[in-house]
Amino acid sequence: MKSVKRLLIIIPVVFCFYLTASGKDKKHSNYYNDQVRPHNQRSVLQLKVDPIPVVRVGFIGLGMRGTPAVNRYTFIEGVEIKALCDLNQQYIDRAQQKITDKNLPKADEYVGEEAWKRLCERPDIDLIYICTDWQMHVPMAVYAMEQGKHVAVEVPAALTVKECWDLVNTAERTQRHCMMLENCCYDFFELTTLNMAQQGVFGEVVHVEGAYIHDLRELNFNEFGDRGYYNQWRLKYNEKHTGNPYPTHGLGPVCQVLNIHRGDKMNFLVSVSSGQFGMTEYAKQRFGANSPEAQKKYARGDMNTTIIRTEKGKTIMIQHDVTSPRPYSRLHAISGTKGFAQKYPVKQIALEPDAHKFLNQVKMDSIMKKYEHPFIQEIGDKARKVGGHGGMDFIMDYRLIYCLRNGLPLDQDVYDAAEWSCIVELSEQSVLKGGVPVKIPDFTRGDWNKLPGLKFAK
Ligand SMILES: NC(=O)c1ccc[n+]([C@@H]2O[C@H](COP(=O)([O-])OP(=O)(O)OC[C@H]3O[C@@H](n4cnc5c(N)ncnc54)[C@H](O)[C@@H]3O)[C@@H](O)[C@H]2O)c1
Repeated sequence: MKSVKRLLIIIPVVFCFYLTASGKDKKHSNYYNDQVRPHNQRSVLQLKVDPIPVVRVGFIGLGMRGTPAVNRYTFIEGVEIKALCDLNQQYIDRAQQKITDKNLPKADEYVGEEAWKRLCERPDIDLIYICTDWQMHVPMAVYAMEQGKHVAVEVPAALTVKECWDLVNTAERTQRHCMMLENCCYDFFELTTLNMAQQGVFGEVVHVEGAYIHDLRELNFNEFGDRGYYNQWRLKYNEKHTGNPYPTHGLGPVCQVLNIHRGDKMNFLVSVSSGQFGMTEYAKQRFGANSPEAQKKYARGDMNTTIIRTEKGKTIMIQHDVTSPRPYSRLHAISGTKGFAQKYPVKQIALEPDAHKFLNQVKMDSIMKKYEHPFIQEIGDKARKVGGHGGMDFIMDYRLIYCLRNGLPLDQDVYDAAEWSCIVELSEQSVLKGGVPVKIPDFTRGDWNKLPGLKFAK
């Protein structure tokens, strides 16, 4: 009798445990697979919302990136900067000054760890512009969309595949825009070569390359200040993670060339990292061989190389290295059946029938003029004056506001944000398993072939 009683207790407990565990596993593995769209969600491909004649903006995160963004917005027509938020009052003051210097109305101020929530809850804001460290991007973006706001979020938009789905699901549920601020898509050479690719100048584009190679060792180790990240957030991420934590600058422009989720999709990647040498070497020189910085184990290998294959048989190579002493490079390369373009170290183009050598400068200048992208013709001069990485940041902001004011689909949608950001976790998975192939989810849930190529709305 006693053993029967015991069984009556044990069996339901084991069953409940099984259900919970298997449910968890299922949920977890689903993130890496294509998902079925829940009934209360609709695709946001080509999402249009009512025109917003004056876009009221709230900025969260006013560090090295956020404050210049506020400054750029003071040059855009049809914008009201309503609110500024940071942990640090001095940073808010600095950003506020960019506004008041131009005799524009002062923005309301929000200081503190959770103050961003109050900013997002305000009914008189249309767009939340997020420039905090990586960890806060998704919690803030999701909360903002749930409050009915459109979102612009810095790169990478998300750090894990689950976070990517959170952005997609929230945008689909709330029917709000969520654009990742991938400014490199608006760089002048990238825009012009995109135009050339769209007009068939390179023939069928077969292979593309991008990179983020930028010596950030000093910045990474600096304390919070004008020349350092808040609470050394970037260094801390490097300590724990390998793979490519910052893939989108290289990936965004070349995914646009390949029409990713507008006729093609990324299927899988393989990723390999070198060992870690540069951080330790730098820390030894700067802090001493016995310093805690030099003794730490940094998980991220110096150079990461990731190769992606698409459904249509195209390949993409993306690199990341922020710890080697070498010149800045985003290695933008496009290789097609009729020609080739590359930037870094120098801008060069080679075209059939003479593609075994690069065009001379005269021909290069004339082709760059011939295919100059309409965005550059429209706003290039002002962008160069306002600045932000030579003007590309301003073109990005200008386009975002233009599309919102005219009720047009944005140039980059939430699926771009998810596709380009998911490489953070998936490259790490591949590296940790010795470079094995890792599937890339289809965040559009089967809609990747519905649009006939990338078209910017006008
Ligand atoms: N697109 C680009 O070219 C580019 C260039 C640099 C940085 N970035 C991105 O911009 C983002 C910010 O980078 P950064 O260099 O400005 O870093 P940063 O450390 O200088 O700034 C981050 C700011 O966020 C604030 N912050 C953190 N938690 C907050 C909270 N809970 N509420 C309000 N404010 C909070 C910090 O106080 C800090 O001022 C990152 O995502 C980074 O990847 C993009």
